[in-house]
Amino acid sequence: MKDKIFNEFRKMYSENPRIFRAPGRVNLIGEHTDYNEGFVFPMAIDRYTYIGISKREDSILNIYSAGFDESISVDLLNPEPKKHWSDYVAGVAVVLQNEGYPVSGANIYIDSNVPLGAGLSSSAAIEVSSALAFTGLNNHEIDKLTIAKICQKAENSYVGMNCGIMDQFVSVHGKKDNALFLDCRSLNYELVPLDISKAGIVICNTMVKHELGSSEYNKRRKECETGVNAIKTKYPNVTALRDAVMGYLEEVKNEIDEVVFRRCKHVISEDERTALSISALKTNNFDLFGKLLNGSHDSLRDDYEVSCKELDIMVDAARSMDFVYGARVTGGGFGGCTVNLVQHDSVEKFSKEIKIKYKEKTGIEPELFSFLPSNGAEEL
Ligand code: GLA
Repeated sequence: MKDKIFNEFRKMYSENPRIFRAPGRVNLIGEHTDYNEGFVFPMAIDRYTYIGISKREDSILNIYSAGFDESISVDLLNPEPKKHWSDYVAGVAVVLQNEGYPVSGANIYIDSNVPLGAGLSSSAAIEVSSALAFTGLNNHEIDKLTIAKICQKAENSYVGMNCGIMDQFVSVHGKKDNALFLDCRSLNYELVPLDISKAGIVICNTMVKHELGSSEYNKRRKECETGVNAIKTKYPNVTALRDAVMGYLEEVKNEIDEVVFRRCKHVISEDERTALSISALKTNNFDLFGKLLNGSHDSLRDDYEVSCKELDIMVDAARSMDFVYGARVTGGGFGGCTVNLVQHDSVEKFSKEIKIKYKEKTGIEPELFSFLPSNGAEEL
């Protein structure tokens, strides 16, 4: 990909680019916990968004996306969100400027092999590669955590998706052969070796994406806040669902809406599952890890209500095979991918059978991936 970007960039802009890339991610477990200051357990994957970039002497960003085969110009003196893929790039430039890191105009060429709209965080990949490209080009010394926070801010304030920190954090801090266990309050993290020769991780794309994703996401965040406010009346030290236990929630059950109760129940139980999953993985206890994955999906389906028919079909099909430890949706939900933990000698059999079963029930040909846990963003 590096050579392709280099050559295409030269053809388009008649100069040599610097090239940066940032990975997508798969979240193993810990879903909708990041913005509740809880735990997540993602890994960066060996699929990346690449950016070739060179400096301009004016304030114009000329941005070309190979994926969309489309060019667009944005004037940094007058940037405005357009509800367009370029918002991810321009948003990062705008937030960098607002945080005191001036960004010059630039010629930009983007290409990516992170599947779009599949819950694999193609958005964090484009944000983080943009941030690295802009800071590299303008000689700003900036630490990894600040990069992740700036990208999250760009997505919140410019793109309008009120996401947590997980995706950007792991796209920056990911490490080859490891998953990353992150405490989203302290932002301390632990790398946990992921030996895929012991158990297979197969990602299955349902190939559907239901449009309500981002509005429902922002709604879930509000419901969690409502729950926190209710619990706070009895336990003032609770500032996020991270601080709550089921007992606290039970105590305010009669004062909150039934839906809010279920949303909070998901988050509290998901934090417990995610905390347990780290020791399960460290001790190669795949039976337990699989049970936690299953519990996570059931809770996301029934209590958080972010699954959909196709995801449930894919998960049920996986679980009907006795060499599967566990399966669940990964990412925000409403479509995209499932993550499946499979006995290592049965990966091929699994892949064959899940394709048949899913197609039988939906008429859709799924796409399957075996990603490698990978390093975070870098200049090539
Ligand atoms: C999206 C968001 C993340 C996280 C997940 C759900 O991927 O970008 O911050 O909230 O959904 O776990």
